[in-house]
Amino acid sequence: MTKLLCLTALIFPIILCLTTSAAGSASDTLDSSNNITDGATLVSAGGSFTLGFFSPTGVPTKRYLGIWFTASPEAICWVANRETFLSNTSGVGVLVIGSTGSLRLLDGSGRTAWSANTTSSSAPVVAQARLLESGNLVVQDQSGGDVLWQSFDHPSNTLLAGMRFGKDPQTGAEWFLTSWRASNDPTPGDYRRVLDTRGLLDSVSWKGNAKKYRTGPWNGLWFSGIPETASYKEMYSAQVVVRPDEIAYIFNASAGAPFCRLVLNEVGVVQQLGWDPVSRVWNVFTQAPRDVCDDYAKCGAFGLCNVNTASTLFCGCVVGFSPVNPSQWSMRETRGGCRRNVPLECGNRTTTDGFKTVRAVKLPDTYNATVDMGATLEQCRARCLANCSCVAYAAADIRGGGDGTGCVMWKDNIVDVRYVDKGQDLYLRLAKSELVEKKKRNVVLIILPPVTACLLALMGMFLVWIWRKRKLRGKRRNMDIQKKMMAGHLDETNTLGDENLDLPFFSFGDIVSATNNFAEDNLLGQGGFGKVYKGIVGENREVAIKRLSQGSGQGIEEFRNEVVLIAKLQHRNLVRLLGCCIHGDEKLLIYEYLPNKSLDCFIFDAASKYLLDWPTRFKIIKGVSRGLLYLHQDSRLTIIHRDLKTSNILLDTDMSPKISDFGMARIFGGNQHAANTNRVVGTYGYMSPEYAMDGAFSVKSDTYSFGVIVLEIISGLKISLTHCKGFPNLLAYAWSLWINDRATDLVDSSVAQRCSYSEALRCIQIGLLCVQDNPDSRPLISSVVTMLENETTPVPSSLMLGANYWALWAMD
Ligand SMILES: *[C@@H]1O[C@H](CO)[C@@H](O)[C@H](O)[C@H]1NC(C)=O
Ligand SMILES: *[C@@H]1O[C@H](CO)[C@@H](O)[C@H](O)[C@H]1NC(C)=O
Ligand SMILES: *[C@@H]1O[C@H](CO)[C@@H](O)[C@H](O)[C@H]1NC(C)=O
Ligand SMILES: *[C@@H]1O[C@H](CO)[C@@H](O)[C@H](O)[C@H]1NC(C)=O
Ligand SMILES: *[C@@H]1O[C@H](CO)[C@@H](O)[C@H](O)[C@H]1NC(C)=O
Ligand SMILES: *[C@@H]1O[C@H](CO)[C@@H](O)[C@H](O)[C@H]1NC(C)=O
Ligand SMILES: *[C@@H]1O[C@H](CO)[C@@H](O)[C@H](O)[C@H]1NC(C)=O
Repeated sequence: MTKLLCLTALIFPIILCLTTSAAGSASDTLDSSNNITDGATLVSAGGSFTLGFFSPTGVPTKRYLGIWFTASPEAICWVANRETFLSNTSGVGVLVIGSTGSLRLLDGSGRTAWSANTTSSSAPVVAQARLLESGNLVVQDQSGGDVLWQSFDHPSNTLLAGMRFGKDPQTGAEWFLTSWRASNDPTPGDYRRVLDTRGLLDSVSWKGNAKKYRTGPWNGLWFSGIPETASYKEMYSAQVVVRPDEIAYIFNASAGAPFCRLVLNEVGVVQQLGWDPVSRVWNVFTQAPRDVCDDYAKCGAFGLCNVNTASTLFCGCVVGFSPVNPSQWSMRETRGGCRRNVPLECGNRTTTDGFKTVRAVKLPDTYNATVDMGATLEQCRARCLANCSCVAYAAADIRGGGDGTGCVMWKDNIVDVRYVDKGQDLYLRLAKSELVEKKKRNVVLIILPPVTACLLALMGMFLVWIWRKRKLRGKRRNMDIQKKMMAGHLDETNTLGDENLDLPFFSFGDIVSATNNFAEDNLLGQGGFGKVYKGIVGENREVAIKRLSQGSGQGIEEFRNEVVLIAKLQHRNLVRLLGCCIHGDEKLLIYEYLPNKSLDCFIFDAASKYLLDWPTRFKIIKGVSRGLLYLHQDSRLTIIHRDLKTSNILLDTDMSPKISDFGMARIFGGNQHAANTNRVVGTYGYMSPEYAMDGAFSVKSDTYSFGVIVLEIISGLKISLTHCKGFPNLLAYAWSLWINDRATDLVDSSVAQRCSYSEALRCIQIGLLCVQDNPDSRPLISSVVTMLENETTPVPSSLMLGANYWALWAMD
């Protein structure tokens, strides 16, 4: 306490002066010989807290008795007469204490507006009330002795360091938070924050009778869903007390730590705030709920919420389960949850169920779960297997690392599971047939006795050696094929594809001299598949040379693909391939040179973004759509690009866009419109949900990527940002602005000056149409082109999916 005072004193000499000079009048103690009238205050011994009368902002006629931080009077941490305010017209309020300890707040006419119910004491006392440095107002006998009453036992909406949050199982007393009704109305509001002591301890926010949010069970170190609180345990250590007369969560501030308060605000958000004495503001340390996945049971039974997805469908099912109602699910009605793909074989002795680990999650609601702090994880596993109603288990206390101690077992179902960083492992019970790995690269970790493990490791090394040898051989064979392939091309023997190609072949020597032996100065850029150099060939012709890196994913297949494809494509919004070169392991592509680099270099760069005004951006959007239309429809083939993104759109001298990078494109025949692949390639964020999740792609996957690009061009915000203006990503942000009729807020401020908002709105609407989760709802690129080119073409406004979804979310 003294240290805290010193710190405060150093930073706040002025406040200290004020409190010392006032010390004569403002003491920290109230007894029956004096009283506190409106205008007077009690100040704690170190000056940290003040008790007195206040009016909330904007409501000068209502008077309340409260305790606040002396340094920050607007931070009220306790209010006595929350339900009965004193009116300033009925005279001056006064706080008095009777000699037996009854604390009463009287209005001007002597009526009791509020009273503290002191626990009756058999022995007669001479009571006094004292405001402690912790912010606690304590009523007790003058000579010390039992605490008759304390404000810490009657929290308002704020938890301070040292305050209990929980319950006394013997008396039934509960310490919980109740929100204010409004930011300037301390009347108890709709939200409560309670420590749930059934199952594992969990701190739960309620709105009326509806559970809105839970932090996840206490795991000995933190609440399972908010591991971030552990990161400043040096300053504010959290502890949980479990005793016959007390089950409580308490946070304790280290000596010298700045003031901290945990507030349940009037809209149900809990914030942990730390006072910065230098800038004199409260900084937010943690906030919950943080995002849509914190919404209680959002994905229903056996659902798993993941906020890091590009789509606005944040819900998935845990492994081995599928949505109960897939169509509702795609309509964002995910609360129906998931059901088991294969029923458990419970009870059958010849076959058994097993467990699969769901990693890094906030553990499910333990309200109906069975907790055994004495059991090991191994014992739990056996017990769970033996009990037909058990569906999952997990470690209950992770202190000490490893498997932790104790365990919790869920019966019937699990709800409210989400991914979190540093989350816990959940062991999910599945039928045996579901446990067989399905040609996926998921590594199953098995704990083996050391000897077996060593043997296996040796065997593994041997196998790797053999495999590498084979791969080397394979590589050599591949090279031969390449040589043959290119030779075939030169001989015009048609090995490259089904068409004769009129594509010049450059010698490697030409390329080396063109790029000054791949000089760093000539480097234009670097992508996933290699480096791009500027070069001069022939009579001063500038070209861009893509040198595929040997370790890149682009093998002969992609190379062939790109060469064959682009050689056939001619459109002013597609980059032109001029030739190619193969030399040993080197694979090179020679393109027309575009002096302006790619679109992302402009729109995401703080300075360069000003070079792209609205008319230019609109032109780019239209150009990209036309290029895409050519790919999808107007060339003789249906070509799906599969990796459309801003860095693959190059700009020429007059800022016309050209789509590049066809390494992943796929050609469809006349009747084919969709396909599946096991190898999902592309860029996270631009990939449509059905492609990212199931590998299903169609022209509508490109439509999706196009929509993302449009929204990026308009907003100057990257899809890859994990938090976008308080939303999980750019799409969520755009949706929310759209449904709130504030879509124009999305427009990048750097183009605001010359912006035609009607055009921008149209583009936003089209962008949102394109990023709808259901591929069938997304428009074909041909309609997009029509809508963009022709102002009178109506744009469908049935953005129902996202709109409904976000409306619901905003309403909560
Ligand atoms: C409060 O104290 C003042 C002065 O000590 C006294 O005049 C007044 O009557 C007291 N009020 C009550 C309600 O006890
Ligand atoms: C009560 O507050 C209002 C608003 O500030 C003020 O106008 C009025 O004079 C106050 N009345 C008394 C009795 O203090
Ligand atoms: C004091 O007790 C009475 C009766 O038991 C109750 O109505 C009142 O709400 C209590 N007051 C406080 C502040 O707890
Ligand atoms: C809280 O922190 C103070 C200062 O570090 C320490 O003296 C006290 O023992 C702690 N209390 C608990 C309950 O951990
Ligand atoms: C147990 O499993 C075996 C193999 O799947 C099956 O043949 C048998 O009918 C099952 N018995 C019961 C009682 O379900
Ligand atoms: C607990 O069980 C009751 C009764 O079966 C059920 O209504 C409730 O939803 C369950 N709660 C949770 C969190 O699973
Ligand atoms: C199975 O688990 C449920 C819930 O955890 C429990 O109520 C029941 O007693 C258990 N049955 C057996 C036989 O252990």
